[in-house]
Amino acid sequence: MTQRTAEDFISKVNSHWSSDRLKKFTAGHKYLLLPTSAPLLLKTLGIMNNDATISADAMRKFIQVNHLIAQFRPFLEDLNERQKIVNILDAGCGSSVLSFVLAWCYENMWKHPSYMVGIDSNVKLIEKNIKNFNDLKIKGEMNFAQSAISDFDWKTFSKDEKGRLHAVIALHACDTATDDAISLGIREKADFIAVAPCCQAELASYWKKDGTAMKDHALTPLFHNPHLRREMAAHTTDMIRVLVLRGHGYEVTTTEFTMSHATPKNTLILAVRRGNYHKESQRELDEFLKWNGGFEISLNKKVPF
Ligand SMILES: C[S@@+](CC[C@H](N)C(=O)[O-])C[C@H]1O[C@@H](n2cnc3c(N)ncnc32)[C@H](O)[C@@H]1O
Repeated sequence: MTQRTAEDFISKVNSHWSSDRLKKFTAGHKYLLLPTSAPLLLKTLGIMNNDATISADAMRKFIQVNHLIAQFRPFLEDLNERQKIVNILDAGCGSSVLSFVLAWCYENMWKHPSYMVGIDSNVKLIEKNIKNFNDLKIKGEMNFAQSAISDFDWKTFSKDEKGRLHAVIALHACDTATDDAISLGIREKADFIAVAPCCQAELASYWKKDGTAMKDHALTPLFHNPHLRREMAAHTTDMIRVLVLRGHGYEVTTTEFTMSHATPKNTLILAVRRGNYHKESQRELDEFLKWNGGFEISLNKKVPF
């Protein structure tokens, strides 16, 4: 985009997004990022249209990212105080809307150096992210690579040998890709891990395959009910993830991260590292797995205590 086209677009945005329209858009919320704060970024990421409008779908994504950044903010600001440069991995980054917005926050709001790495198994998305990064001329450092999360090795991306990975985020990384992101964060002793799980199918498939054959287990009626089996397995999977993280010394909270009507995949697991392990949580996990008929998920095997 030439300087002239960029200036024309920004003035279009400023006249479209009048204070009345912005007020209606924010509806009383204090969003960190407004349509007028970073128009070129939003246009490049496909959130804002050429005529400065934002479609309903893109609006949901935009609000979702705003909510996420607001929830990450205290943890990232804490890292900013302690680290000269904050290293963040966006695992299963897709179009990397979240990491581009985070890079924008680091450059314009927190004014702190960051190094953002986005990985995804889809090479087309990685190529698009690299192009967007070059077009946007972002000052902060970003790197994108095609990789399965389970194959990712931080050492080959870290800029200096001592540069630890400080934060791992994974937004709607499909099924066990979320477990790969959690186990990567635990192994790298990341200070902060944030995942919004989706399509948790692993445990539901074990319940279907082996659970339905169990005769006297209290959960057998549930194993036989397809819809409730899927729903309950999703929550049970997330509870196991919480206990594994706690057992590895993380303080964990779970919450909804955006308006409940915006997405059915609305759970956010936030984990902050406080130590190496927590015995009581390990015991709780054992009890929980017993209740669950002994069914484990791949995360248990990846990061045993
Ligand atoms: C639903 S999209 C979410 C993308 C992005 N995080 C977002 O919220 O917009 C899931 C992404 O995870 C990627 N993915 C799924 N499994 C993966 C794996 N095991 N390793 C790397 N990427 C994976 C997919 O290619 C896809 O781009």
